[in-house]
Amino acid sequence: MIDLDRIIAQSFVRQAEWLPEVDSTNTLALQTIDGPAPLPRLIGAESQTRGRGRNNHSWWSSSGALTFSLLLSPAEFGISRPLWPRLSLVTGLAVCRALEEFLQAAQVQWKWPNDVYVNGRKICGILIETHPEFLDRLVIGIGINANNSFQSAPEEIRHTATSMADVTGGHHNRSDVLVAVLQAIELEFLALSQNDPTQIDRCRQRCFLTGRLLKLKEVTSTVTGMCLGIDDDGALRLMTEVGPQRFLSGEITRID
Ligand code: BTN
Repeated sequence: MIDLDRIIAQSFVRQAEWLPEVDSTNTLALQTIDGPAPLPRLIGAESQTRGRGRNNHSWWSSSGALTFSLLLSPAEFGISRPLWPRLSLVTGLAVCRALEEFLQAAQVQWKWPNDVYVNGRKICGILIETHPEFLDRLVIGIGINANNSFQSAPEEIRHTATSMADVTGGHHNRSDVLVAVLQAIELEFLALSQNDPTQIDRCRQRCFLTGRLLKLKEVTSTVTGMCLGIDDDGALRLMTEVGPQRFLSGEITRID
């Protein structure tokens, strides 16, 4: 189990719970967003029956994964509203930095806008959601494949995802991993609040997409292009058939 006392003592989290099973930690966090518990609040679960991913995808994970949501108010971190669009990028960067401590030999990469890849396979997904009424708060859902193995995963993700255990061949203490992730998030949130100009370079150094040919699905169309990198504002730059273009959102549907 997760050592919740340690999480409270060693991170910014002020209230924490870890449930045996829940439909989705993000759904529960959104349902209880106006509750009396102090923020930032952590809701984790050993298993999710309806884990959700971005763009209406579902999130599969098995026993041994780290699946949790943070309910917080960005203002408490000095992050003003105009900086909110950067939170997904910055959270992905923080997870990369934390996982690097545990996976030294492997290349931990950040995939725009906020996935984490190791050895070309997805190891972490992040889903950030807001509530239509409580506009000063948000929910950051993070799924990290820690000790769950993908050898028994559904066929469609068996060859595209990986876990910390699959990468190192060893078991990882999930409280250690969680503390490292939360501490890295705090550092990167601070950097964001201070408009640290080196933050985007930390993303660029880890960018999984730069130099790759990819397909990006927007609301009504799909664009193909070679990734030229990430702009200072976090936009993805693609060399498309009509020249260089910038994208602030979209879903990467294919990488060659
Ligand atoms: C993605 O890759 O599309 C995002 C996946 C996010 C999964 C996490 S697991 C904890 C939290 N609860 C959810 O239902 N989803 C997020």
